[in-house]
Amino acid sequence: MIDFQGILHKVYSEIGNRQERGKVATYIPELGDIDINKFGIHLVDSAKNEYSEGHSQEKFSIQSISKVLSLTRALSLVGEKLWSRVDVEPSGDPFNHLSLLEQENGIPRNPLINAGAIVVADVLVSELKNAKVEFLDFIRRIANDPSIDYNLAVAKSEKNTGFRNFAAANLLKSYSNLKNNVDEVLDFYFHQCSLEMNCAQLAETFFLFSNRGHCIQDQKFLSVNQVKRINALMLTCGFYDEAGEFAFEVGLPGKSGVGGGIVALLPNKFTVATWSPGLNKKGNSKLGMEALEMLTTETGLSIF
Ligand code: DON
Repeated sequence: MIDFQGILHKVYSEIGNRQERGKVATYIPELGDIDINKFGIHLVDSAKNEYSEGHSQEKFSIQSISKVLSLTRALSLVGEKLWSRVDVEPSGDPFNHLSLLEQENGIPRNPLINAGAIVVADVLVSELKNAKVEFLDFIRRIANDPSIDYNLAVAKSEKNTGFRNFAAANLLKSYSNLKNNVDEVLDFYFHQCSLEMNCAQLAETFFLFSNRGHCIQDQKFLSVNQVKRINALMLTCGFYDEAGEFAFEVGLPGKSGVGGGIVALLPNKFTVATWSPGLNKKGNSKLGMEALEMLTTETGLSIF
C-alpha cells in the first residue's frame, strides 16, 4: 500500500512554500489578481480514496484544462471523423501560435492548442442546441457536482483581450475549417475556458481517464479506445512546447491551464490535481510541475 497522504504532505511541505513561484498570467486581466501564494494538491486513487493538502478546496479558472473535456464531448458526439479537421501531432509551439496553422492549410496540429480547441468548440456549437448550457450540464454529470459553473467575468475579460484567438478563428474560417460564426464559437470557447473548479473537483472530473472511461459515479462516458486516444494526446500535447519536459520529469498524461492548474493521471492507479497560479516561462504552473515530479519520484509510479 502506498501512503498517498504521507507523500502529499511531504510534497506540500517541501514545495508549497518555495520562494521561486513563477508569474501569474496577466494577458487575461481578470486572472492577474490571483494570490501567487496559493498551493493545493488533491489525489483520488483507483479505490476512490481521496487525499488533500493545502488550498485544495479553493476554486480557480481551469482554462486550457477544459480543452480535454470539450474534446471528450466532441469525440462522444462525432467519433473518429473529428480527426479529419484536427490532427494528433505535438506542435512543439506555444499554445497560441498560429504559424503552423497557415503552413498546414488550416488543420490544427492537435486539439489541445488553441486553434485545435476552437475547431472542437465549433463541433460542439454545431452538434448541440445550446452549447454553453449543454456542455456545463455534461461537466456537472461527469463530476457529479451541480455547483460547477462558468466564471462570467473571466469569460468577458478574455473576450475583450482574446485577439490571438480571434485571429485563429478567422484563419480557420478562411480555410473552411470553422462552420459557425466566429463570434458564436469564441463565445462558447471563452465560457468553456472560464470554468472554475477546485483541485478536488478537477481530480474527480478527470477520474474517468484513469478509470477506462467510467466517471467517479461509475457511469460510462467514453470507450476504452477513446480514453487511450485522449490520454495519448495529453501526454504528447498537454503541455505544448513543454510536453517533452513534463513526460521527462513527471511521466504521466496530463493537462495544464494558465489559471495555474494541472491535472495528471496514471491509468488504473490515481488521478491528481495541483493548483499554484505562478507559471513558468512556457505558461505551465511552476510549482505544480515540481510537485508532480516529486509525487512520481516518491511513489515510484509513472507510465514508464
Ligand atoms: O485561449 C486562451 O489563451 C486561454 N483561454 C487558455 C490558455 C491556456 O490555459 C494555455 N494553457 N496553459
